[in-house]
Amino acid sequence: MKHTVATFKKAKTEGRKLSMLTAYDYSTARLMDEAGIHGILVGDSLGNVILGYGDTVSVTMEDMIHHGAAVSRGVKNALLVVDMPFLSYQTSAYDAVVNAGRLMKEGRAHAVKLEGGREMVPQIRAIVQAGIPVMGHLGLTPQAIHALGGYKVQGKDEAAARKLLEDAKALEEAGVFAIVLECVPSALAGLITEAVSVPTIGIGAGAGCDGQILVYQDMLGMFSDFTPKFVRRYGEVGEAMKAAFASYIEDVGQGTFPGPEHGYQIADEVIEKLY
Ligand code: KIV
Repeated sequence: MKHTVATFKKAKTEGRKLSMLTAYDYSTARLMDEAGIHGILVGDSLGNVILGYGDTVSVTMEDMIHHGAAVSRGVKNALLVVDMPFLSYQTSAYDAVVNAGRLMKEGRAHAVKLEGGREMVPQIRAIVQAGIPVMGHLGLTPQAIHALGGYKVQGKDEAAARKLLEDAKALEEAGVFAIVLECVPSALAGLITEAVSVPTIGIGAGAGCDGQILVYQDMLGMFSDFTPKFVRRYGEVGEAMKAAFASYIEDVGQGTFPGPEHGYQIADEVIEKLY
C-alpha cells in the first residue's frame, strides 16, 4: 500500500500508529520500504551520521538533493520526506518555496520538513500554497543548536511548555500535515497530540505521539559518537560490521580470500601461449 500525506492524516483519525525512519541512500531505503515502513525522512542528521560534521548546520541544499534522489530510487510505498537544510527557508517565504520546490523536483521528495514554531508560519503557508506538503518540527530543533545551548529536553517549564503547545497549533493552522516532536517530555507531547488534528511523530517524546521516528544508525548501533537516552537498539549492526571487516582483513592477509570459487576461468592453452 502506498503511503501519502492523506494516509498519514487518516492513521491519526483511525488511531493507527505511524512508523518512520531516516535513510540517506538507495539500498537502505529499499530495505526499509520492503519492511513496510510508513515514512522515510532524508534527515539533515546526515550532517552527523553520514558526513561526520558533528551538527546539521553545514548541510547544504546540494547534500539534501543528492541524498533525497538516491533514497527516492529505493522507495516504492513509503512517504518520502526530505529535510530543508539550515538557511534554505529561514531567510524568506520566497527562498522557502524555491528551495522546497528544488527538493521536490531534483530531490524527488513527496513532502518537506522544516524546523521552528510560529515564526515559520509565513514560510509554511507559502510552501503549502505552492502545493508542497510540509511536516513541522518542534522541541529540540538541531539547526538552532547554538541558540538552544546544546542537545537538551525542551518545554520543561510552564512558559516553554505553553509556547510549544501554541506553536503546534500555529503550525497546524498554517497547514502542516504532521509535526515531529523531538526531546519533549512525554506528558506534554501527549497533550500536544490531543490538541492538534494532524499526526505527531515523536523522537524522545514518549509513546503518546501518533507515530515514532528514529535515526537508523542509532537504532542499529552503527553510530557511537553519541547515543541519546530515547534510542532503543534493534540490532548491533555496527559490531557485526566491524567483525565482518576484521574477518575480511584477516582472510586477505592470510591469502584465504579470494578462493578458487571467486575467480574466473581461462583455458590453460591461452595462458601457456603467454609464457
Ligand atoms: O534530521 C533528522 O534526522 C530529524 C529527525 C531526528 C526527526 O530531523
